[in-house]
Amino acid sequence: MSTQIEVEDLHLHLGPHSGGIDALDGVSLHVDEGERLGLVGESGSGKSTLLKVMMALLRPDSGVVRFRGRSLSDNEAVRDVRRSVAMVFQDPRSSLDPRMNIGRAITEPLRSPVARTMTRQERQDRLAKVMMDVGLDPESATRFPHEFSGGQRQRIAIARALVTQPDILLADEPVSALDVSVRAQVLNLLNDLVRQRGLTMVFVSHDLAVVRHLCDTVAVMSRGRVVERGRLSDVYRDPQHEVTQELLTAIPRIRVGDSTH
Ligand SMILES: Nc1ncnc2c1ncn2[C@@H]1O[C@H](COP(=O)(O)OP(=O)(O)OP(=O)(O)O)[C@@H](O)[C@H]1O
Ligand SMILES: [Mg+2]
Repeated sequence: MSTQIEVEDLHLHLGPHSGGIDALDGVSLHVDEGERLGLVGESGSGKSTLLKVMMALLRPDSGVVRFRGRSLSDNEAVRDVRRSVAMVFQDPRSSLDPRMNIGRAITEPLRSPVARTMTRQERQDRLAKVMMDVGLDPESATRFPHEFSGGQRQRIAIARALVTQPDILLADEPVSALDVSVRAQVLNLLNDLVRQRGLTMVFVSHDLAVVRHLCDTVAVMSRGRVVERGRLSDVYRDPQHEVTQELLTAIPRIRVGDSTH
């Protein structure tokens, strides 16, 4: 299986030069075609920073990011990433513009300079289809984000990510801002969409139980590095790193009263 995204020895210092933090401190990782990779690790370990570097939203201080074998120092490769990779963020409130109706918000990526030119009718058809795919009524396209619940807003964000028909989805804790009662629905939706479309996915989460439901492989981050990576079943059975062992022992505690399954 071919490698889609590969990062090698990335370093990135954030904040003031002295007193800031090495958000990435020598991280190396690869994501293969069709892989559903769970990226876990304690708060502040660098997960979100790594996703942003993978999408060329942040530039590392040193190290290499390759997309399908080409370094992102090449502008052509950056355009390719933007065309093929989509991202879903943690909080739909901050990722959706409150003044833009949701039809416009969902189709906005189709108007970006890297997107293929589409006619108005093609865009409308694509919008209706993707809204149905995520369980939203296409008739509601003229409504605004505040008219929707948190779970529906995250469906809107997922529709916006999928509207360009990406091959790869980067999801950064897509349900952690939602009520526990609607998390399972959104996760199941995401799971179905990713499997139906055969997408490659990197799914960031604190919750290993959720990762087990959606992913086949896992990478564990700690202090800006990947400390463990492997098939989920292997890592579950025989965690090598202390951080992984701690994450695993936390599961029963987190699961009590939770309905993410
Ligand atoms: N813009 C910034 N300026 C300064 N420090 C930052 C900035 N963004 C992130 N950091 C720091 O970089 C480190 C890594 O942050 P990051 O958001 O990647 O962690 P994370 O693993 O996604 O955490 P969480 O699970 O809480 O989302 C943290 O210590 C964070 O405080
Ligand atoms: Mg984060």
